[in-house]
Amino acid sequence: MKVAAEVCGLCGGSGWKSAEKSRVVRCDCRLKHRAESLLTAARIPKRYEHCELSNFEFEGPHAHLMKARMAACKFVEEYPVDNTGLLLIGSIGVGKTHLAVGIIKELLVSKGIPCLFYDYRELLKQIQNSYNDSVKATELEVLRPVFESEVLVLDELGAVKPTEWVWDTVSLILNTRYNNNRTTIITTNYPDDAARDSNGNSEFSRAQRAARGETLGDRIGERMRSRLHEMCRIVKMEGADFRQTLRSASFR
Ligand SMILES: Nc1ncnc2c1ncn2[C@@H]1O[C@H](COP(=O)(O)OP(=O)(O)OP(=O)(O)O)[C@@H](O)[C@H]1O
Ligand SMILES: [Mg+2]
Ligand SMILES: [Zn+2]
Repeated sequence: MKVAAEVCGLCGGSGWKSAEKSRVVRCDCRLKHRAESLLTAARIPKRYEHCELSNFEFEGPHAHLMKARMAACKFVEEYPVDNTGLLLIGSIGVGKTHLAVGIIKELLVSKGIPCLFYDYRELLKQIQNSYNDSVKATELEVLRPVFESEVLVLDELGAVKPTEWVWDTVSLILNTRYNNNRTTIITTNYPDDAARDSNGNSEFSRAQRAARGETLGDRIGERMRSRLHEMCRIVKMEGADFRQTLRSASFR
């Protein structure tokens, strides 16, 4: 049985409603509709669907996250007048992805801005798959929305083992977005330090370098790390793994 679509009580289905001074403006039902289609187009993974700025805790035991949340709210407020991106850096489970998803949800709901979410590993895998003849999507078809989306979240930057191909691909993505003046929000576990061997520290063995911990420079290359500094404001997030906090709370 077909159910008749509900007719909006505000605009009677026209999509326009009257405002002061006998002006007409877009009705809320259309704005809501736009937000819903933008949300679908943003491709936020199911596991992060619950993430919003409003449920990101930053008080009491989470007070150390207040600065990061403030940076997120300021970003949303000032976009697009200031379209500098964000680079969220922090250890595992500190809430980087939650904050990034919260930001784009707020942008698309309150400002109607098209956004796109991509996990770095997933993106590189899709590009690599496109070289396979049996896969329908071409490399450009995978990359076009990544190049063009007004705001892109690139989650877990550096999480793929660096090879020449990985470096070339990440520079193509970041440089294209930089040249087109697009906004990119990035999360990473790797500290924002220079590549360890960029100044010829080749006497360090691989194992020694690993023991000192890899840096963002090691993972994406020093040139791209420096490019990111032009594209993004750095937000450092410190604290415990939120997932463990949740788990121990549920045992209490
Ligand atoms: N401040 C917070 N308030 C409420 N929930 C939070 C907060 N921080 C993290 N979480 C929740 O904890 C879980 C882990 O957070 P999230 O995935 O954002 O961490 P992450 O820093 O991206 O970790 P990873 O480095 O593993 O990617 C998620 O379910 C998230 O919703
Ligand atoms: Mg994450
Ligand atoms: Zn309406």
